Amino acid sequence: MDPFTFAFITDVQIGAGSPNGLRGEDSDKLRFDRAVDFVNKAGVDFVIFGGDQINVEDSEEQLDVFLESAGRIEMPWYGVAGNHDQSPTYLEHEDVPVRFTLNHKGCYFVGYDAWSVRGNAGPEPQKKEISWLTEQLRAAPADARFRFVVTHWPLFMHHPDEEDSYWNMPNRHELLELFKEHNVDCILSGHLHHDIDTVWSGLRMISAAATSVPLHYPEEMAFKLVTVFDHGFSMRRVSVAVVDTN
Ligand SMILES: [Fe+2]
Repeated sequence: MDPFTFAFITDVQIGAGSPNGLRGEDSDKLRFDRAVDFVNKAGVDFVIFGGDQINVEDSEEQLDVFLESAGRIEMPWYGVAGNHDQSPTYLEHEDVPVRFTLNHKGCYFVGYDAWSVRGNAGPEPQKKEISWLTEQLRAAPADARFRFVVTHWPLFMHHPDEEDSYWNMPNRHELLELFKEHNVDCILSGHLHHDIDTVWSGLRMISAAATSVPLHYPEEMAFKLVTVFDHGFSMRRVSVAVVDTN
């Protein structure tokens, strides 16, 4: 298999860190545009968004800004919705990522809407989303080289039995078992706005820093480049907080 590279960009969250306006010199859009310029120049195969594309869920202005910059991406893009995207303004827009499946060069990708599996959502949306996700995982080609799952929420921060107050992910054990059963290799997520690198029963779970703002401690705004090759995959962090030196 020829190696290929894709970008994972999460928590673009237009409006979260734009003190001088959505198009200001220090805006989320500026940092997102740096990511877009980078992926266009690097010629990645596609881009995946990890959710929280905007900060205020029903802001048409923020959504317009997101779509304006995303529209400059020169390759296909996919993604999932985050908790900041849960409004009709976002979810009913036909050009925004909410959930997806993708077959690419022998690898299988499925992205689900994590909001629906949260405890807050109630039993019905949880059941519906998990059954959709199960169907998609069952549809993965038997010979898929790698299976990636994309979700806004990491399943946990430290360990699977930690107190579940912040995440409110009552289904985390059910989801972990589902991913194990379907031989998922890697879960990509955002939400925390900081890196998490976890291995659970051989399943790799990577949460990426945001391109917008750090939330819990000092952080460099960044996104990930993932290169997939014959027997594995590598990940690099690309900063959008510093000016490109090229
Ligand atoms: Fe976020």
